[in-house]
Amino acid sequence: MSAPPLLVTCGLPYTNGPCHLGHLRTYVPADCYVRYMRRLGEEVVFVCGSDNHGTPIVVSAEAEGVTPRQMSEKYHGHFDSTFRRMGVVFDHFGMTDDPANHARTTAIVQELIRKGYVYSQVVHQAYCTRCKRFLPDRYVEGICPHCGASARGDECDQGCGKHLEPGEIKEPVCKVCGMKAEFRDQEHFFFRLSAFKNYLLPYLDAVRGTANAKNYAIGWIKEDLHDWCITRTLDWGVKFPGRDDLVVYVWVDAPIGYIAFTEEWAKKTGKDWKRYWCGKNRVTHFIGGDIIYHHCIFWPALLHGAGYGVPHAIVASGMLKVDDHKFSKSRGYVVWTNEDYLDRGLPADYLRYYLLAYTSHTRELNFSWNLFAERINNEVVNIFGNFVNRTLQFAHREFRGIPEGRADPAIMAEIEKTLETVERYMREYEFKSAVDAIMALAAYGNTYVQGSAPWKLVKTDKAAAAQVIYNCAQIAQAVALLIEPVMPAKAQECWAMLGYTDEVASHRIGDAARPVPAGEIPAPRPLFTRMEEEQVKMLEALLQKRVADADRKSEKIPVVSFEEFQKLDIRTGRVLSCEPVPKSNKLLKLIVDIGNEKRQIVAGMQQFYKPEEMVGKDVVVVTNLAPAKIFGVESNGMILAAGDTASLLIPLRPVEPGSKIR
Ligand code: 2FM
Ligand code: ZN
Repeated sequence: MSAPPLLVTCGLPYTNGPCHLGHLRTYVPADCYVRYMRRLGEEVVFVCGSDNHGTPIVVSAEAEGVTPRQMSEKYHGHFDSTFRRMGVVFDHFGMTDDPANHARTTAIVQELIRKGYVYSQVVHQAYCTRCKRFLPDRYVEGICPHCGASARGDECDQGCGKHLEPGEIKEPVCKVCGMKAEFRDQEHFFFRLSAFKNYLLPYLDAVRGTANAKNYAIGWIKEDLHDWCITRTLDWGVKFPGRDDLVVYVWVDAPIGYIAFTEEWAKKTGKDWKRYWCGKNRVTHFIGGDIIYHHCIFWPALLHGAGYGVPHAIVASGMLKVDDHKFSKSRGYVVWTNEDYLDRGLPADYLRYYLLAYTSHTRELNFSWNLFAERINNEVVNIFGNFVNRTLQFAHREFRGIPEGRADPAIMAEIEKTLETVERYMREYEFKSAVDAIMALAAYGNTYVQGSAPWKLVKTDKAAAAQVIYNCAQIAQAVALLIEPVMPAKAQECWAMLGYTDEVASHRIGDAARPVPAGEIPAPRPLFTRMEEEQVKMLEALLQKRVADADRKSEKIPVVSFEEFQKLDIRTGRVLSCEPVPKSNKLLKLIVDIGNEKRQIVAGMQQFYKPEEMVGKDVVVVTNLAPAKIFGVESNGMILAAGDTASLLIPLRPVEPGSKIR
C-alpha cells in the first residue's frame, strides 16, 4: 500500500500586523521541506492561511478604527504577497473567516457536542464596569497565577508561557480603558480535554517531527491536563452553535482552518480533501515553539474527539533572537520582512539561506546584520558563488561551454554521498545539516578545481583541462539542484548558467547524478553580490535606532495623585548670584531669592549658561526637595529646565520672587 499523501502546513499568521523574521523562521523551513520532498518525487500539498479571529485582531482593528474583516483582508493580502516574495509558495492560502472554515468549525464543534466532549459551566470572567463588557483574552492584562509575571488574558507571554483559562489571571485590568476589572459570572462552554490524557500520551510518543514538540507536550500532560473553555464573549468569530452571544475561542477555529484550506484547495483542483484528514495521514505541521501546546495537545484531542485523522508530524522551531536579545516587536528587536529587507532590494534567497543554515531548526537562532553579512559573504559568495563562477567562466572562455566528457568516479561518489546525506537530514528536519552538506560539496568543488589548476593544464593538455571542467560542471549541476529548496531563485539562475532552458524545480534531486549535458552556455555573470560593509552598518544603525525609540516609548511614567502633586512646593525665584562649582565643569552654584528666604542651589547648567547670564533671571524652583550634597556643595532646591540643553523655564510676565506655581 502506498504511503498517504503529504500535507504540509505552517502556523497561521494573525492578521493584525506585518510579516517579520519570526514568521519566516517557520515558513522558510516549511517551504524548503516541501520543495525538497517534491524534488524527491513526493506528492505534496502545502496549505496555509491567515488567522483572522480572536481578540488580537479585534483589539488592533478597534485601535485603527476599521472593522476586523477590513483589517484581516489588508494583512491577508500582505502576507500572501510577502510570502511569495520570499519564495514561500503555498498551493492555497485561505482565510479563517471565510465560509469554508465557518462551516467546518461548526461541524466539528457540533460533533464534539454530540459526543459529549463539550459541557457548559458558569465561570468568573473579567468584566470592566466602565466599558460595560466582559474582557476576553487580550482585552485583559494582569498577573500570571503560575509564575507572577505580567500576563495577558489567555497566556503568560512575559513569563512561564502557560495558557491561561478565562478567570485565571490575577489583578485583571481592562486593556481598553485601564480600569481595574472585576470578575462576574457567565455561562461558557468547555472542551473535555482532560478526558484525552490516555489517548494523547501514546499518540505523542509515536508522533513524528522534532523532539522539542513531543517532549514538551508529554511533560505538560503528565504535569496537568485541564479542560479548555472554548467560547468567548465576542461578536467577531465563528458563532458557537445555538448561541448568538458567544463565538468559539480562536484556538478552535484557527487550526480547523488547516482542514478548511485543504477543502478549498481540493475544490479548485478537483481533489479529495478527505484523503488528507480522514484516517491515516501524513499531515505535517510546521509551527513556532510558542504554540506547541495548541498543536500537540489541544489540536489532536479535538481532531480525535470529532473523528478526524490526527497530525502525523509536528515540527517546532526554536527561539529567535535579534542582536542577541529576545525577539520583541515592542522593544524594537524585530526585522520586518518588507520594510527592512525585501524593499531594500536584498535577495530573498540570502535570508532563506541564513534562516536555514544558521543553526539546527529547534535551536535558538540569533539574527544580526553583521552575522548575516558574514555568513552570506563567507559561505554563499565565497564558496558557492566562487566555485560556480570560476568553473563556468573558464568553461565559457576556453570551450564556449561545457566540453564533452564523463565525470570521474571519485566525483560521482562525492555527489552520491552528498545526495544521501542531504536526504537523511531533510527527512529528519535537520535543515542546517542538509545545507552544510550541500555547501561542503561546493567547497569540495573549489578544492578540486584549485588542486587541478585547469588554467595551467589548458596550456599543455587541453583535453585534461576539459575533463577537469566537465567534473566541475557535474558538481555545479548537483549543487544547483540540491540548493533549489534553500535558494530557489539563485538555483534557477545557476541552472540557466549551466545551459539549461527549463526549470530546475521540474527536475528530481536524483538528476544530480545524471551526466551534465555538454554544449554551449551563456556568458556567466556573477551569481551573488557581496554584502557591503557600508550597507551592513546602515542596517545595524536602523535597528539600533528602532530599539532606542522603543526604549523611550516604553518608559513607564508612574501616575501621581493630585494630593501627591500638591506636596511639591514650586515657586519662582530670582537668581542673586552665580558661580561655577570648583573643579566641576558641569555645575553652577546659585543663590536664589525665593521670596521669604535665600537658597543655595546647585544646578548642572555650566555647559549651557555663563554664570553672569544667570544673575537677575526669574527661574522656577522646586523648594521642598530634600537637601543634597552635590560635589561637596549643599543644594537646597532644584531649578526647572527643559530638554537636553537645559532650557530654563521663565515666567512670561514679571512676577515677585516666591510666586507659587499652581
Ligand atoms: O500564534 C499565532 O500566531 C496563531 N495565529 C497561530 C495559529 S496556528 C493554527 F493553529 F491555526
Ligand atoms: Zn474598560
